[in-house]
Amino acid sequence: MLTQRPRGTSDLLPQDTVLWQHLEEVARECFERYNYDEIRVPVFEHTELFARGVGETTDIVSKEMYTFSDRAGRSVTLRPEGTAGVIRAYVENKLYGSPDVSKLYYIGPMFRYEKPQKGRYRQFHQYGCEVLKAESPALDAEVIALNVDIIAQLGAKGLTVELNSVGCPVCRPLHKDAMIAALTPYRDDLCRDCQERLERNPLRIFDCKNEHCHEVLAKAAAPTILDMQCDECNGHFAAVKQSLAAMNVAYVVNPLLVRGLDYYTRTAWEVTAPGFGTVAGGGRYNALVAQVGGPETPGIGFAGGVERLLLLLREQNVEVPVTGRPDVYVAVADASGDNFAVPVLQQLRRSGYRADRDYQGRSLKTQLKAADRVHATFVAILGEAEASTGSVTLKHLDSGKQDTVPLAQLTEFLKQRGV
Ligand code: HAM
Repeated sequence: MLTQRPRGTSDLLPQDTVLWQHLEEVARECFERYNYDEIRVPVFEHTELFARGVGETTDIVSKEMYTFSDRAGRSVTLRPEGTAGVIRAYVENKLYGSPDVSKLYYIGPMFRYEKPQKGRYRQFHQYGCEVLKAESPALDAEVIALNVDIIAQLGAKGLTVELNSVGCPVCRPLHKDAMIAALTPYRDDLCRDCQERLERNPLRIFDCKNEHCHEVLAKAAAPTILDMQCDECNGHFAAVKQSLAAMNVAYVVNPLLVRGLDYYTRTAWEVTAPGFGTVAGGGRYNALVAQVGGPETPGIGFAGGVERLLLLLREQNVEVPVTGRPDVYVAVADASGDNFAVPVLQQLRRSGYRADRDYQGRSLKTQLKAADRVHATFVAILGEAEASTGSVTLKHLDSGKQDTVPLAQLTEFLKQRGV
């Protein structure tokens, strides 16, 4: 028990964190190219925020939240997703007071009590963004393009954007009534969850994992929301598709796509990879800011799963640049070399080089083996000769080429060799 992590969590060891850092760096770089700024919000919030924001009828809220009472008896929940907290912060900090659009991004852990399996964990990480105060369909297309850019820039291939529009407070109630009318005669054929969905949120039946419920949907000729959208939603959707085409972002319309969160209005999408599943998803939410107590403000965003994306890159054998190798490993031959190592390391590190040494008093041969093992670019060999002349013998490990360089010129020497 003491040495076992909780189910659905992972330890990221150094060989993993280099991949994570690379992904995070690419994501940040992409977000910043689109002029987003980072926001960091708490990993836990009042439970009520998610119940209201994400929606009581979603699996996330009804089955998957890590909810507990704190010592003062308040109900708090580890965030299952990033949007609700960011919107809470947007309202609480009155960011809506700015005349400009807020473009915010985040990277961090999320928590859902799900059945752990490949690509599905209880603590997982998302990189995501939210844009507030703009309704333009061109923005929807731009946010989708950004979502795709991050995944493509990391080297993943064969991605599909599945696109849908899920209506608005004008057309959704009409669709709900039509679903109820179509499915009520078949109510008993639906799974128990869908029987409940039929009453509370029939749109969610399209998202049921049960094959039989999909047969019932077909038999009942239940209309999709696209079949029943109002003119304004149709116009918005057409403009989004047009902007995507103008940017050469490929997509397929999937009228059955329903996201696992209730806040979406109009545009909703998922980025999927063949034979793998969903890597990222998002959508527009024009009612959410008001729902959590702010002024009516349109919003849109997406989030991708860090673990899932890394899994996809591994499955596609995408090479990730290896970092974390020392530029110089300092090996000492004797006691005077050992003393001289101190200023040499100091100079290397203060000049910005990644430098390491042996701390265990091992033999020179063992130190050289260690330098090889950690894939150092250079090994610096220090003995009495070097200490007395104030110079460093540097061996380039790939080529075997060796030079003796005065300490004062060490940095310049490394720079000239591209290190
Ligand atoms: P979501 O589709 O629930 O959307 O999650 C986004 C991504 O997080 C998924 O595509 C997946 O890669 C990853 N993910 C979700 N659950 C897990 C899990 N249990 N284990 C591993 N990865 C997981 C949202 O969360 C919305 N907040 C996205 C959004 C932002 N919509 C508007 N703005």
